[in-house]
Amino acid sequence: MTAVIRYWIEPLTDAHDLEGVLEVESESFTNPWTREMYDWELQNRSMCHILLVRTDQERVAGFCAFWLVFDEIHINNIALRPERRGQGIGTSLLRQVFAEGRRLGARRATLEVRASNEGARRLYERLGFRVAGVRRHYYTAPVEDALILWRDDDPVGGG
Ligand SMILES: CC(C)(COP(=O)(O)OP(=O)(O)OC[C@H]1O[C@@H](n2cnc3c(N)ncnc32)[C@H](O)[C@@H]1OP(=O)(O)O)[C@@H](O)C(=O)NCCC(=O)NCCS
Repeated sequence: MTAVIRYWIEPLTDAHDLEGVLEVESESFTNPWTREMYDWELQNRSMCHILLVRTDQERVAGFCAFWLVFDEIHINNIALRPERRGQGIGTSLLRQVFAEGRRLGARRATLEVRASNEGARRLYERLGFRVAGVRRHYYTAPVEDALILWRDDDPVGGG
């Protein structure tokens, strides 16, 4: 049985936390974002936002990286360390992203997800995202379609 852990969510303000973000990236994705990509994010703070999940045991247990583009949130990456998944933390993290987006004036959110990532798709659907399109063969390693999801601010039941 997984012990309940204490966690909290806060914006990334210290570039040293990129080490933890890169670790979670490599534990989660076959094509992880690189340090150079994150360095670029940090140099463009008016558009690029990163929320971190912290626990007593881990400085970075997970994160979500998103862009604010006009009144839209574009969620680029969201991931937790494998041992922290399936405990509701991803749900809290996304809710926090929506709250932060609203604070910044966003009214809609979008993201792309591998068609086969059923766990993530269920989570997004529960939070009010709906499939709006498909990008054929968008992903590599392995090659796979991306589903394009959109969510309006405060959809009924979306939380
Ligand atoms: C996708 C991801 C961020 C979701 O975060 P998460 O914390 O695992 O998500 P949640 O725990 O909130 O929800 C996932 C499941 O856990 C269940 N859950 C929620 N709270 C729970 C709790 N307290 N105890 C046990 N299970 C719980 C949910 O019901 C959900 O179940 P379901 O899959 O049957 O719908 C995470 O799984 C992850 O890092 N995956 C790998 C990277 C990835 O695929 N990222 C998305 C790319 S688009």
